[in-house]
Amino acid sequence: MRRKIVAGNWKMNTTPAEGAELAKAVAAGKKEICDCVNFIVCPPYTHLSEVVRITRGTGVAVGAQDCATEEKGAFTGEVSARMIASLGVEYVILGHSERRQYYGETSETLNRKMRQAYANGLTPIYCVGEKLEEREDGRHFDVVKAQLEEVIYHLTPEQFERLIVAYEPVWAIGTGKTATADQAQEMHAHIRRTLAAKFGAAAEQTPILYGGSCKPSNAGELFAKEDVDGGLIGGAALEADSFLQIGKAFLK
Ligand code: 13P
Repeated sequence: MRRKIVAGNWKMNTTPAEGAELAKAVAAGKKEICDCVNFIVCPPYTHLSEVVRITRGTGVAVGAQDCATEEKGAFTGEVSARMIASLGVEYVILGHSERRQYYGETSETLNRKMRQAYANGLTPIYCVGEKLEEREDGRHFDVVKAQLEEVIYHLTPEQFERLIVAYEPVWAIGTGKTATADQAQEMHAHIRRTLAAKFGAAAEQTPILYGGSCKPSNAGELFAKEDVDGGLIGGAALEADSFLQIGKAFLK
């Protein structure tokens, strides 16, 4: 049985005070939901310490949205994996399409970030996904395969065992346009096959999350698919109710 995971990517939203309220509401609501669903919240850096404190012992885990490529030193504005991990944060989102698109992150950058994440005990949530034109040109499977081969294939088998992958088609992020459950399943199966080609049977255990306009009304259909092990949620994670409802979609 693979882990079922619902992770909220808050992106650049909420003040620390608003984030604390949101985290409290998620932690309170989580109590009503089966322990079989793993909840992760990923607030901005400025909130991490407080959100870790609020969620401690509640079964809600905390992730960062990024980390630096380097260990430490003169890198103004950067936040290292070691700093993040020292707060009690367990996860880190890496390779989100917004980082690739707006901040020029390449596979080379991401290999360095992955190295830092693992060296400091963080579990990466590695994001892949094609742009609209790549899907329209029929290149979506190749694009996602390359995003996996160029980064994930460099992991050791031990590192691979801790990995979480998120498939987020860029055309579905924040657009209200969700991939159909069949489109998601088809890509998730492709991702798992690509991982299995390198890591064998271990790929059966890798949680592969779907992200892109996932909400309470479509989560059930998506999560019912064999290779969809949960969601990486943006907009709908900014309200505790809708985020928790998405988690409950597993139980239907
Ligand atoms: P939305 O759920 O707002 O489309 O964002 C998805 C996402 O990018 C999560 O990382």
